[in-house]
Amino acid sequence: MFLTRNEEHMLDGDEGELLSKAMRLLVTLGEVGGAKRLAPIRRSQVAGVSFKTAGEPTLELLESFASTGAKAKTIATLNPAGMDLERWAQMGISAGFAEKQRRICCAYERLGIRPTCTCTPYLSGNVPRYGEVIGFSESSAVAYSNSVLGARSNRHGGLDALAAALVGRVPLMGYLLDENRLGDVEVKIDCSLRNEADYAALGYFVGKNVEMDEVPVYPEMKATRDRLKLLGAASAASGSVALYHVLGFTPEARKEGERLYRNGRLSESIIFDDVSRRRVYEELSSHAPCDLVAVGCPHCSLREVKEVADRLSGRRVRDGVRFWIFVSPQVFEDAEGTGCVAEIEASGAKVFEHTCMVVAPLEEMGITGVTTNSAKAAFYVPRMTKNKCGATLLSLRDCVSMATV
Ligand code: F3S
Repeated sequence: MFLTRNEEHMLDGDEGELLSKAMRLLVTLGEVGGAKRLAPIRRSQVAGVSFKTAGEPTLELLESFASTGAKAKTIATLNPAGMDLERWAQMGISAGFAEKQRRICCAYERLGIRPTCTCTPYLSGNVPRYGEVIGFSESSAVAYSNSVLGARSNRHGGLDALAAALVGRVPLMGYLLDENRLGDVEVKIDCSLRNEADYAALGYFVGKNVEMDEVPVYPEMKATRDRLKLLGAASAASGSVALYHVLGFTPEARKEGERLYRNGRLSESIIFDDVSRRRVYEELSSHAPCDLVAVGCPHCSLREVKEVADRLSGRRVRDGVRFWIFVSPQVFEDAEGTGCVAEIEASGAKVFEHTCMVVAPLEEMGITGVTTNSAKAAFYVPRMTKNKCGATLLSLRDCVSMATV
């Protein structure tokens, strides 16, 4: 792979051993992926933050990285942690977990990664521009950035996204290249999309039915950015979809027609109808009794928080059920400013930042059944808790009626 003189210096250790290792990692990934060179980046999103998933060895590794004094060369933000960094006790997190979690966030911060702890960096000041090459490692944020914003990112793992942040480069390959951004599979929708959970179910279905690296193309549909956030997160979870197009809506699909499609046309199509929709809801329903309603996977936008506040208005969360809404610190601040947090919390629900229902240690908190409007969360909660906690997909409206009086 071609390296500039600067990159060779970094590889040779002129900027320290950690940067040399980071360069080696990226060069190896690039060589495996057929990259001819590295591309400079100004933005990163680093996953691998929750102590629940990272564990003690990663904590020690991060602290050893931080002790080198190396700093990110990009605007770098952090994925959700295992708890709200301030109100962790209200979530039922133990002091031991909280201490380890704080050390992880602190190590990242010393490495120059902002502890924003959200999977929606694009709603929190780290906003990729159209055509910009970035190094993101949160699959839902990759799908959103590629598809809705028209930026260019591969799906990085936590470690290579950290390496990319430290050296300010990513291998030039995959979804960074025009030829890999063309549509492959036509999605036909033969049922109504009634609410946000249906969009999530659609994304989940499409992710399961496309091959690795295929780019689905959705027809013109009544999409909003919030609904695409849920759809993209679901298809990234069920099938590693990193890029999709929605005709007439997402930026690259405005150049409709043959220029969008590989070989001038879409080679196959899949159909989402009433039957497939019902099957998704069945598959993502464990029927475990619900003790937590969790909304905000990916983290809610301010508009979504307002909708939750409106729906909870005048209602009270039932005894024995927790109702949590997950947001980024930026959205939390904005929602506090508009009075939404107070309105929501008057019902007995809680708005938490920095974390989510998937990366928090639910099983240690005694939670056994989660109901959510996110197909990604309904898919991951049982897996992340080794089936100690079930999950059910429902619309926000149904979540509210089920959990409140
Ligand atoms: Fe974000 Fe957690 Fe869902 S990181 S996309 S809220 S699994």
